[in-house]
Amino acid sequence: MPCPARPGLLACALLLACLASVKAQGLSPPWWVTWDFFQAALRSDRCLNVSELAPLPRKTEFRFNITVCADAPEDKLVGLATFLTVRYDFGGQLFSSKVLDSRGKAVRPMMVKDGEQAMKLAGAALQGNHYFERTAVSSPLPCIDFYWVIFKPEIAQIWIDNLADLYGNINLLAADLFARVFRLEQFGVRATTLKFKDMASQPEGQPSAYV
Ligand SMILES: *[C@@H]1O[C@H](CO)[C@@H](O)[C@H](O)[C@H]1NC(C)=O
Ligand SMILES: *[C@@H]1O[C@H](CO)[C@@H](O)[C@H](O)[C@H]1NC(C)=O
Repeated sequence: MPCPARPGLLACALLLACLASVKAQGLSPPWWVTWDFFQAALRSDRCLNVSELAPLPRKTEFRFNITVCADAPEDKLVGLATFLTVRYDFGGQLFSSKVLDSRGKAVRPMMVKDGEQAMKLAGAALQGNHYFERTAVSSPLPCIDFYWVIFKPEIAQIWIDNLADLYGNINLLAADLFARVFRLEQFGVRATTLKFKDMASQPEGQPSAYV
């Protein structure tokens, strides 16, 4: 078959048509991007499966499941349910998740009473996740404790159909990704990649002057 006279022009016309149709549907609706964030954070834990994001029948709500493996300890299961059972409202479009045990039963989130408990729960939930390093407590002033979850200083790359980005992806520090997905600040816990070298020799939970 002979080449079309102006292949460049044809490709260009196709691309433009394609861009126009993506635009018409709305680029990367925020609930899809949010789901991508969950996927990127959770696929680095082999004990978790993230389902497709699917509309609930007769509702303006997208829902997905996070299924936890059978041999996960109870505190990991409860921790995951506490941080990852979410319901967001994107301007009328609801987005929600459920954490299920290996038999498909929804796990109940826990009422967390303080930052210390949240930090321990986050540590349990993140056990086995590639990006997780450990938890730590720091006391910059007497009687003030900061609760931390420390992540590896790595970049998580999230693919999205963001045409404003040349490569169509977002690159986030693992700590930033998990701060968002786990809503850590809401629970009084901070995410960081700091090494806390000075605390390394101290047992966890012991106050330290370093942040
Ligand atoms: C989530 O799990 C529930 C209960 O097992 C199931 O009915 C539903 O289809 C699942 N949703 C998705 C999107 O996989
Ligand atoms: C995740 O899904 C895969 C494929 O369906 C399955 O083999 C695996 O056991 C699942 N893991 C969990 C933790 O549910």
